[in-house]
Amino acid sequence: MPDRQQLYEGKAKIVYSTDDPQVLISYFKDDATAFNAKKRGQIAGKGEINCAISSHLFRLLEQHGVATHFIDQVSGNEMKVWAVKILPLEVVVRNIAAGSLCLQTGMELGTVLKFPLVDYYYKNDALGDPLLTPDRILLLELATSEQIEQLRHLALQVNQVLSAFFQACGITLVDFKLEFGIDHQQRLLLADEISPDTCRLWNQAETDPDRRVLDKDRFRRDLGEVETAYRQVLERVLSQSAHRGV
Ligand code: TMP
Ligand code: ASP
Repeated sequence: MPDRQQLYEGKAKIVYSTDDPQVLISYFKDDATAFNAKKRGQIAGKGEINCAISSHLFRLLEQHGVATHFIDQVSGNEMKVWAVKILPLEVVVRNIAAGSLCLQTGMELGTVLKFPLVDYYYKNDALGDPLLTPDRILLLELATSEQIEQLRHLALQVNQVLSAFFQACGITLVDFKLEFGIDHQQRLLLADEISPDTCRLWNQAETDPDRRVLDKDRFRRDLGEVETAYRQVLERVLSQSAHRGV
């Protein structure tokens, strides 16, 4: 990969250019942050684990007709992706009440939602990623109304595919965050990553509310055995992917 230059470094990834301006390399780091980077640490092996999990999930979604930025996994930590301009929105889908939904509404942790909830957040560290409404998105011109509809439709489609996949892994997909970008042909592509950093995943074999956690909440809430949990997700994703030929 000649002409490789670092274009951007985020909290969990570094993006490099390639000799093709439409193709980038996304490098997954072991660094972990939470609470708008007020808490920082490292999770051993996280870069490779999340790169592998994300690669499998993007491939699965592509097979189900969801357009993503994923091209190929090129090394343990690196994914080749299409260059996109990331929309400054985090699209969160929730199936079960947890995290900020409980804090902001008083719902009890673990309540099964009557329908999958789609929430939008403003990707803006200075403002602490606030919750948005569709009208606020239009007001701030972060996306058009057609794009908001498209995002909602895609997010719910991703939820269906991933919920069924994780169910087959013996894992409940509680909630997750997606990011989208626009490529040079103005196509809306699912981007960033889908991993235990960006999803809440509960082991169905455990009933204890702390022991069942297989995601970044182990790091956020100092529950310990973070790497073991991430590895368990990877192993189940790999065996389910092999089973399905993903
Ligand atoms: P929340 O309950 O804290 O709003 O998180 C909802 C989901 O979004 C959860 O699966 C974790 C994920 N998430 C991120 O990927 N990045 C973030 O910065 C935040 C706050 C949440
Ligand atoms: N990754 C986010 C941050 O450090 C927050 C989180 O995932 O909880 O700001």
